[in-house]
Formats: sequence, C-alpha cells, structure tokens
Amino acid sequence: MHILGIDIGGSGIKGAPVDIETGAMLTERFRLPTPQPSRPEDVADVVTQVIEHFNWHGPVGITFPAIVKEGVVYSAANVDSGWIGADARALFERKSGCPITVVNDADAAGIAEMTFGAGKGHRGVVIMLTFGTGIGSALFVNGYLVPNTELGHLELRGKDAERRASDRARQEKDLSWEKWAERVDEYLGMVEYLFSPDLFIIGGGVSKKAERFVPLLSTRAQIVTAALLNDAGIVGAAMAAKPAE
Ligand code: BGC
Repeated sequence: MHILGIDIGGSGIKGAPVDIETGAMLTERFRLPTPQPSRPEDVADVVTQVIEHFNWHGPVGITFPAIVKEGVVYSAANVDSGWIGADARALFERKSGCPITVVNDADAAGIAEMTFGAGKGHRGVVIMLTFGTGIGSALFVNGYLVPNTELGHLELRGKDAERRASDRARQEKDLSWEKWAERVDEYLGMVEYLFSPDLFIIGGGVSKKAERFVPLLSTRAQIVTAALLNDAGIVGAAMAAKPAE
C-alpha cells in the first residue's frame, strides 16, 4: 500500500510517497521551507502544497514536533504557540481534502526504525531519542509504541534536558563533541535510571556524526545509531497513517 508521508521540521516540510510494506520511498522527496513564524494556517498551506505537488488524493501521514493525540496538538516547545489546542488533523483535512493522520515526529521516526531500521527485531524496552532542535523520544515495549513520551523535557540540572543536551544546544554553545557527549551521557544516564531500556536508538540529524560522540557514551544499555537518517520521519508518518483493517 502506498501512503504519502510528510515530515514537518523546524526548517523544512518534506514529503514522499512510501510503500509501507517495504519502507521504500517511491520518489525523490519534495521539500519546501517551513514558514516563519510557523503558525497553523501557514504551515497547513505549505503542507497542502506538498500534497498537491504529488497530485495526491489518498491517505497522508504527517509528523509534528509536539504532543499529538487524535490529531490535536497539546504542546509547542519549538513551534508557534498558536498550535496548542489546535486540531491539526481537521485543519490539514480541510485545506487538502485528503484523509490525514498526525503523529509526533519522534514517534514516527521510531516506528520506521523499529520496522525497517536499527530497532528491527528488538523486543524488550527500546527508546529512540532524536537529537536536533529539541530532543524527541519514542518508547517501545515488545515492539509496541507508548506514544508522546516527551523525554526531552525531563529536568536535568534544573533545566529542560533538551536545553542542555540537544544538538541545538551543542551548536549554540559551540560545545566540543567531548563536552556535548558528557551532557548527552548524563541525560542518557537519567533516562536509563528511570526506564532501564535494553536498547537506545540515537537519531536526528546529529546521528550522521555518531562516530564523534557515541563511543564516548557509557550506558549499560546497548546504543545503536538510526539507520534511516533523514527518511525515518517520512516513512514512519506514512506507516502511522495505514487505515485500520
Ligand atoms: C517536543 C517533542 C518533539 C521533539 C523533537 C520537543 O521539544 O516537545 O514533541 O518530538 O522536540 O522535535
């Protein structure tokens, strides 16, 4: 089955049709810049342009970087605060005319990694963490997702953890990989203390540089790097939109 996957990020809104049985994208991805400020109506217009680019009329799965339940957004750490309480699914459906599923961005990436990537075949407790503008999390128990875990907002040294240990914090504070790895290690230590995962999957843009920091991490749980890199959001969004049988 083919479903259009769209990944809404801080800088770009990217989409491609996905074969959800194989996880393969069927075309090159199409990307437009995320409008700034990222207000609901403006974002929905760009999402609609991506859908129209593919001349798509079927189901669409869309990631969003916030808590999402039944299509409604409940937080806005790194997006315009106008999203809080917005029914993203209804808005995207009204603009595009397509049936829409909206899912948290890290949950989507985790779904894709657990099925086709670094988490494939892993049982037990698996935590995927995406390090980017924020820190996203996806928690799996024997392959089942516990959605909207928001572990990037655990408190670390009196601060939101993503303010200390996201990739944005590394860049803004111009931290060396060693210094940043210390912060990530402290953060992972806290997550490990609370959840005792069997496996961590490290994703987000920074996973391309995994060799610079993953060897410096000291968790008891095994750590692997995401395999699908940039495509995980698009593929996971499409998978989350599979109509119920
Ligand atoms: C948001 C999460 C999101 C993560 C990664 C956090 O600030 O609260 O919902 O998954 O950033 O984008």
